[in-house]
Amino acid sequence: MDLQKLTAEVARIAQEAGAFIRKEGASFDTAKIEYKGLNDLVSYVDKGAEERIVKGLSDLLPEAGFVTEEKTINKTGDVYNWIVDPLDGTTNFIHGLPAYSVSIALQQNDELVAGVVYEVNRDECFYAWKDGGAYLNGSRISVSGNTEFSQALLATGFPYYNFELLEKYISVFRELTKVCHGLRRVGSAAVDLAYVACGRFDGYFEYNLNSYDIAAGMVLVREAGGAATSFSGSNDSFSTREILAGNRALRLKMQEVINRYF
Ligand code: IPD
Ligand code: CA
Ligand code: CA
Repeated sequence: MDLQKLTAEVARIAQEAGAFIRKEGASFDTAKIEYKGLNDLVSYVDKGAEERIVKGLSDLLPEAGFVTEEKTINKTGDVYNWIVDPLDGTTNFIHGLPAYSVSIALQQNDELVAGVVYEVNRDECFYAWKDGGAYLNGSRISVSGNTEFSQALLATGFPYYNFELLEKYISVFRELTKVCHGLRRVGSAAVDLAYVACGRFDGYFEYNLNSYDIAAGMVLVREAGGAATSFSGSNDSFSTREILAGNRALRLKMQEVINRYF
């Protein structure tokens, strides 16, 4: 399979879905919000975007299955599976805040081999494929070279429905916020990881995530020269639901802080 060509097609599909999201965002009616759980919002825009993406990806690779957030398709592939979040940052979208994205990754057996994150507001398409490097709108990107917290801007996500680990989370937050340039909460895990990949953020951590929030971004970070792991440094973010990503030096320093509490 030519992963470079395939990734270019996936980027096109993500951008087309992004254009739909942008158009609907201009006239979005908040009466159309539904609740999937506590503070877990969704609308016809998430579902409409997913249907468009699933159609495009099915034409591209008919044998592949899907893991998608809105579950508009039920199909498992023997070798290939797409991992799709049609709109990552739904709360931002609904409240009219920038930073939401389309996130698509391809898994071959257990390995992530391609990832695309399209940030709709800034028209920024981030993409990467296995051993091919990572790119933003055609230009090669890489993680930052900062090795010290004192030079670093970090990102996280605040817990919003499962508060069991809140005290631990606050301890980590308290420690990190005192030593770095700042901690940002963008509101789209896929964008957080894309921003790590291009060096805007030096590191990012969050827990309680799903595979479709992070799969594409993990490919971006790894192909940009960084690392994306669980809190213990292992390669099992999907089962642990934890992500800790950054350039290698800062990811390790963040791991030391996190491991004091988690
Ligand atoms: C959410 C975003 C957010 C993260 C949440 C996710 P959604 O995805 O990635 O940054 O903190 O945990 O659920 O619901 O907007 O697709
Ligand atoms: Ca998501
Ligand atoms: Ca979503």
